[in-house]
Amino acid sequence: MSQNQLDTKSQAWSALFSEPMSELVKRYTASVFFDKRLWQADIAGSLAHADMLAAQGIISADDLAAIQRGMAQITQEIESGTFEWKLDLEDVHLNIEARLTQLVGDAGKRLHTGRSRNDQVATDVRLWLRGEIDLIGGLLTDLQKALVEIAARNVDVILPGFTHLQVAQPVSFGHHLLAYVEMFARDAERMADVRRRTNRLPLGSAALAGTTYPLDRERVARTLGMVDEHGVAQVCQNSLDGVSDRDFAIEFTAAASLTMVHISRLSEELIIWMSQNFGFIRIADRFTTGSSIMPQKKNPDVPELARGKTGRVVGHLMGLITLMKGQPLAYNKDNQEDKEPLFDTVDTLKDTLRIFAEMIGGQVNPATGQKEGGITVNREAMKQAALKGYATATDLADYLVKKGVPFRDAHETVAHAVKAATSHACDLSELPLAVLQGFHPLIEKDVYECLSLRGSLNARNTLGGTAPAQVQAQIERHRARLG
Ligand code: ARG
Repeated sequence: MSQNQLDTKSQAWSALFSEPMSELVKRYTASVFFDKRLWQADIAGSLAHADMLAAQGIISADDLAAIQRGMAQITQEIESGTFEWKLDLEDVHLNIEARLTQLVGDAGKRLHTGRSRNDQVATDVRLWLRGEIDLIGGLLTDLQKALVEIAARNVDVILPGFTHLQVAQPVSFGHHLLAYVEMFARDAERMADVRRRTNRLPLGSAALAGTTYPLDRERVARTLGMVDEHGVAQVCQNSLDGVSDRDFAIEFTAAASLTMVHISRLSEELIIWMSQNFGFIRIADRFTTGSSIMPQKKNPDVPELARGKTGRVVGHLMGLITLMKGQPLAYNKDNQEDKEPLFDTVDTLKDTLRIFAEMIGGQVNPATGQKEGGITVNREAMKQAALKGYATATDLADYLVKKGVPFRDAHETVAHAVKAATSHACDLSELPLAVLQGFHPLIEKDVYECLSLRGSLNARNTLGGTAPAQVQAQIERHRARLG
């Protein structure tokens, strides 16, 4: 395609076309207004390709220098906002190439030797996504750190643990928060795993079948940092596959969806804990909004929106996976539709992780160097809630088992005790010893220790359990791991 033709693509791609594209079709097929955000990856990919073409003697050293000069200027133009993006040039690739040719002439026209937009776009998306995955990894670390530090301050704050949203057993609030740290740690592992498969080079696949030029694909991979942990170049090994599959984008969106699902579960808990009926926590006012009609309201908009945006990200996963399912080999234009869902997934996830780290852990006050404005805990409300639901009933059963009563019998005995406490509208620990002994003669005075919330907590001292000693050990492990 000559420069003249690139400039006037609306008229014709080449001599083959006898009529121009209609304005509607042009708008329908163009992607430049969203894929221009790939520009840095596009330029990096082009420079690596040009460097290899020169090293292989396919273009001259002068051409390479001209391409580098042109790309430096284009970078400056895009960064300063003076670059003119043209719808007529369809996408980011053609826009940059056309400008390069305008700036450096024939050298610019030689850049596309041995390359197609098919392997170019696949490379660009992978490079761009790799950078975003690295940013997301950092944000996941920040969020985990925020949770660990709030957990550290709340190791012996007790709240009711729930099953079926019914009071089940007392747990440490620190322990509860660390459950989310485990989830986000696995999310980070998944992202690192997706990164390995994203960081492979399609360039050199050309349109679909490879190319007649003697390319050195491994050199390009190394230039772009597409190497494994041993520094070995990572190159897509089949040209048809390299240009066409978007499984890396799908896996990424699946990993992002799971992260959002974890955020959404946490959101749901924050919303419940903040409701007047619980009153367990408060979040800083800047993450809430008021009501236009009810002056007393403070609504947890940020967690609610995060829960809502989870649906949006899961929707993108469905979109991408459906986009792929009907495509025969190799490249099809359908794939241009991968970008908006992928971009929106990245934006939504990054914003959400950032806002959650701040909402939970607070922000550093530059004057004091201390974090301020994270969630605040109402330990008394949590304790009262834990006292309400016979949360230590299992402990009474365990107490009897330790005295030789078979577990099923102990379970039945405790059910009677709970029934009695319910009819007296009191907690198990408030029943007089004589009454408790009426349920089982093996019950003695020491029973009250196991009926207390703290006794119950301390007793669950197995690895991964809620006893403060265990929670503290987990906090130390996470601190060492997160740095
Ligand atoms: N804008 C296109 C995309 O996003 C680039 C590749 C186009 N290739 C082609 N042969 N039309 O997928």
